Amino acid sequence: MDKKRLAQFASAAAKTILFGEHAVVYGQPGIAIPLPSLRAFAALIDGSEDDGFRIVSKSIGLNAPPDALPETHPQRKLLELLSQRFGKSLPRNGRLEIESSIPVAAGLGSGAAVSVAIIRAFAQRFELSPDEEEVSELAFEIEKIYHGAPSGIDNTVIAYEQPIFYTRGQPARPIRSNWQLPILIADTGIQASTIDIVASVRHAYPGNKPIIDAIGSISRRAAAAIHENRIDEIGALMNENQRLLQELNVSCGPLNQFLAIARRAGALGAKLTGAGRGGNFVVLARNDAEKKTIAEKLTRAGAIVRL
Ligand code: PMV
Repeated sequence: MDKKRLAQFASAAAKTILFGEHAVVYGQPGIAIPLPSLRAFAALIDGSEDDGFRIVSKSIGLNAPPDALPETHPQRKLLELLSQRFGKSLPRNGRLEIESSIPVAAGLGSGAAVSVAIIRAFAQRFELSPDEEEVSELAFEIEKIYHGAPSGIDNTVIAYEQPIFYTRGQPARPIRSNWQLPILIADTGIQASTIDIVASVRHAYPGNKPIIDAIGSISRRAAAAIHENRIDEIGALMNENQRLLQELNVSCGPLNQFLAIARRAGALGAKLTGAGRGGNFVVLARNDAEKKTIAEKLTRAGAIVRL
């Protein structure tokens, strides 16, 4: 898609969970940050011919009128929800166009980012101005289709587009820090189903509760470390969080190998991000030069460096 056309589109960022995935489902805090350079785009465009309304997306493989899709289809559901909520009908002729550079089923919040981009496109077309909380709450309705019983961390960080300390059922708390963490995001290339992994953690509950509580206390310590720019401590807490995620059985061999390569190459911390058992991982380097060296080693080992 060319840049000029994209300028008419609304958009939303991908996200990464720095601390607390899985534990957030059980009311423990988590920390997530937006990844503004990886984005989903959407536009609601009026058509002039009498050819009806279609949802069109090359990146998610869609080209159909909403009512030709299953009733629980996320984009169909979202358009219905928006029409109802704001009392606006979709244009009779036109299209919802969606583009996304965020890998799907890989722990980067692709589903929530597509939802938020669509909500913003709808708001743009009808000159509405929902606040971040309302955008987040609308996207949460669709997260339920993707995830079953989501914690809400993905839709919240994406709607607010700023680093947040998140506890389920409480307002998001923005984390203020005055410097950019040299963070690298890379993909194992393995797709994994969030819904299945979340279910397997639930299956082992309450036996795994002590691990989940320990992850929660890591998130609390990490929030203070981020706030006070203590980079070595942030890295150490990421490694500790990963060890606990392995105990929860949500990591996997190839992921652990990539994390070991990153640490040997000088990473201060490295862990999976999102549901796990594949998908993406997040690495904290001391600075941009070290980040480059780590990225080269990971690429040579077969990881796809995203950022
Ligand atoms: O893999 P993702 O991006 O769908 O993230 C899931 C995060 C979990 O904590 C595992 C689930 C949740 O609802 O918070």
